[in-house]
Amino acid sequence: MSEIRYGIVGAGYFGRALGTAVNSLPGARVTSVFDPENGARLAEDLAPTNVESVEKLCAADDVDAVIVASPNWTHIDPVLLAAENGKDVFCEKPIALSYSDCARMVDSAREAGVHFMAGHVMNFMSGVRRSKKLIADGIIGDVIFCRAIRNGWEEPQKEVTWKKRRSLSGGHLYHHIHELDFVQSIMGPATRATMVGGNVAHSGPEFGDEDDMLVISLEFGNNTYAAIEYGSAFRWPEHYVLIQGTQGAIRIDLQQTGVTVRAGENSESFLLHRNQEEDDQRTEIYNSTSMDGAIMYGKPSLTPPLWLRGIVEEEMAYFHGLMQGNSPTEEFAALSDGSAATATIATADALSRSLTEDRKVDVREIVSEQEVAVRSFSPTSAAKH
Ligand SMILES: NC(=O)c1ccc[n+]([C@@H]2O[C@H](COP(=O)([O-])OP(=O)(O)OC[C@H]3O[C@@H](n4cnc5c(N)ncnc54)[C@H](O)[C@@H]3O)[C@@H](O)[C@H]2O)c1
Repeated sequence: MSEIRYGIVGAGYFGRALGTAVNSLPGARVTSVFDPENGARLAEDLAPTNVESVEKLCAADDVDAVIVASPNWTHIDPVLLAAENGKDVFCEKPIALSYSDCARMVDSAREAGVHFMAGHVMNFMSGVRRSKKLIADGIIGDVIFCRAIRNGWEEPQKEVTWKKRRSLSGGHLYHHIHELDFVQSIMGPATRATMVGGNVAHSGPEFGDEDDMLVISLEFGNNTYAAIEYGSAFRWPEHYVLIQGTQGAIRIDLQQTGVTVRAGENSESFLLHRNQEEDDQRTEIYNSTSMDGAIMYGKPSLTPPLWLRGIVEEEMAYFHGLMQGNSPTEEFAALSDGSAATATIATADALSRSLTEDRKVDVREIVSEQEVAVRSFSPTSAAKH
């Protein structure tokens, strides 16, 4: 099987992590990097070419697939360019900051017949995968409610990064889209969305302009509901997802790391990550006083923790498998064509509108305003390598 060659757009904290994971896979090699600021440094470490423009990277003969890991607001251009050039794409979360951009990205990939995988890495946590399997097997009955909480307290920042600016990152809701995506992967797409909150405790030059308290309720149209909280205005940090079924419940603890299932008389617990070391390191980070795990932000000079590198390795191995001709698995099909990510952003947009207009918003409002509907597709490019 011929080697698959990857180009990376954005060589910061996560571009480096994705590139390192790619280079460790058999039959995979990073050949090019584009980053206006940090390209040279990553090129030196991963031994690819440091190209001067995103256009050049997407058109390069020695790039089969493009990995987009630039700041959130910049994702759309490289994705569209990659698709135009017939290149498969992996794009970091959130794939875009509006439903209309997501729909354009998904449509252009579908028209070009290339894969468009979203970097919703939570799906690759082993405890999350096992939980979803137990739910699909009916162990907890019908899921009727989910509660997801991801919050903490932000101290004054020496330097306010793009991750804290609403227009650049999307704020907590878009930047930490994982929990919303996870809830929808269990309960289906939300039909009605309500969000209250705002910036309640973090204004001034040492902070960004994102809202630091977001309180969400979701309806799914069949008497099932979810409640989600995000933010950095919470002195008592929490990070978990609780899934309530008619026969039992599952608690995924992302802070005291681990998963617990209760069904009838039975209770069982298992790891969230691949091994005890990864789980323990996560717990240690969350419990340290210097870093608030749930709202921790990377920067180009940092290396992600062991547990995060672990799920990135799993995620890149799956994407590389697609590049080698594997068909999307049922488990990850909606991740592999951008449809899950797009449905999540539709709900995020409905929530944003709910907050701005102080009303409950039907998610169809967001979707029907766009001429381009989200359609799932079967990539025809899988056999081309
Ligand atoms: N899945 C996860 O758990 C996870 C974790 C961290 C980051 N991310 C995502 O990865 C992406 C990158 O985040 P990060 O933490 O690496 O940020 P970062 O700030 O560390 O790095 C971003 C890099 O992009 C470069 N850049 C800026 N504008 C660019 C452009 N137009 N084209 C190419 N490069 C550009 C910057 O110079 C910088 O080197 C974001 O979308 C973020 O949400 C995902």
